[in-house]
Amino acid sequence: MLFDRPAANPEAFGHLLRPADAIEPILARPVRDALTEWLTEIWSAEELAEVGLKPRQKALFHGGNGTGKTTLAHHLAARLGLTMLDCRSDRIIDKWVGSSAQNVGGLFDVLEGQETPLLLFLDEFDSLGEKRMSSGLNPGAEAHHNQMVNTLLARMEAYSGFIIAATNHPDKIDPAIWRRFDIHIHLALPGPHEVRRILKRYFAPFVLPDAALTAFAESLETATPALIRQVCESLKRQIVLGPKAGWAMEREAVFARIVAAVQPHADAGKPRLWSLGAAADKGVAALPWPFERDLAAYPPEPDPGAPSGKPDKPSQLRVVK
Ligand SMILES: Nc1ncnc2c1ncn2[C@@H]1O[C@H](COP(=O)(O)OP(=O)(O)O)[C@@H](O)[C@H]1O
Ligand SMILES: [Mg+2]
Repeated sequence: MLFDRPAANPEAFGHLLRPADAIEPILARPVRDALTEWLTEIWSAEELAEVGLKPRQKALFHGGNGTGKTTLAHHLAARLGLTMLDCRSDRIIDKWVGSSAQNVGGLFDVLEGQETPLLLFLDEFDSLGEKRMSSGLNPGAEAHHNQMVNTLLARMEAYSGFIIAATNHPDKIDPAIWRRFDIHIHLALPGPHEVRRILKRYFAPFVLPDAALTAFAESLETATPALIRQVCESLKRQIVLGPKAGWAMEREAVFARIVAAVQPHADAGKPRLWSLGAAADKGVAALPWPFERDLAAYPPEPDPGAPSGKPDKPSQLRVVK
């Protein structure tokens, strides 16, 4: 229960993620377009007010594990110059009757009491916003859950700040809660162009010729950004540690260890590297070996489009109350 924690402290409900710590995500085209549309709308608050509209402020991100929901929410908060409160459902849901609804109330009280607005990120939202139930199988638990959802509906409706919720299971969300979000963004998997850019970013300071990058990107088709990052980091770790540890450092041996150690989630499809295996995969065979290191390119140049930690357009930004 949250009663023993200081009520006005947002950290009782999750971690605070600062704008300066956000990274610029490399996004699939439809996700990038949706983000641009939303930001344009937020920056046009004054023009919208003239026609009696407010920018939309509540978004639901859905997509599998590692598709970049948290990364995108944090990036968006940074673009707006806001700190993000990363709140997981288990900070709210409590087995004691009535206390989950009370925790929802406590969370919104804290947010409404902030001098500088926070962007609320509700992670694993399917457990919080799960459909209300009336099976009668467990009336006490059902009433407890339904009471919490009703409180959530009412507080979300009255709240005027930014909320982003994230879920891997959009089908579980209560329809009335779903409608409270005026933007729904599906975190589509990166396409071939984005996979190459993600590889480039996380391979640095190693650099690969374009043809090798393209071939290896095909081996990783349908991989999430998180999986691609893990492959790159596992590879770099082996390049540094392998010779010291006396591991076999032939290309196929290194990739066989990566395929064994880094696994796609069981719910996600298997990219070719995993279905064929390192020895048979032509993307692995296309990689020059050993890798060339370009120390001049490290640390990588900051992306000119990356948020600086300051709002992009501070003068036009405010949370409409
Ligand atoms: N679009 C992206 N571009 C670059 N890196 C990404 C992207 N999306 C995710 N990542 C990386 O993958 C990891 C997991 O992403 P995360 O945002 O936690 O996924 P989710 O919240 O959907 O489970 C993070 O370390 C992040 O750096
Ligand atoms: Mg996440």
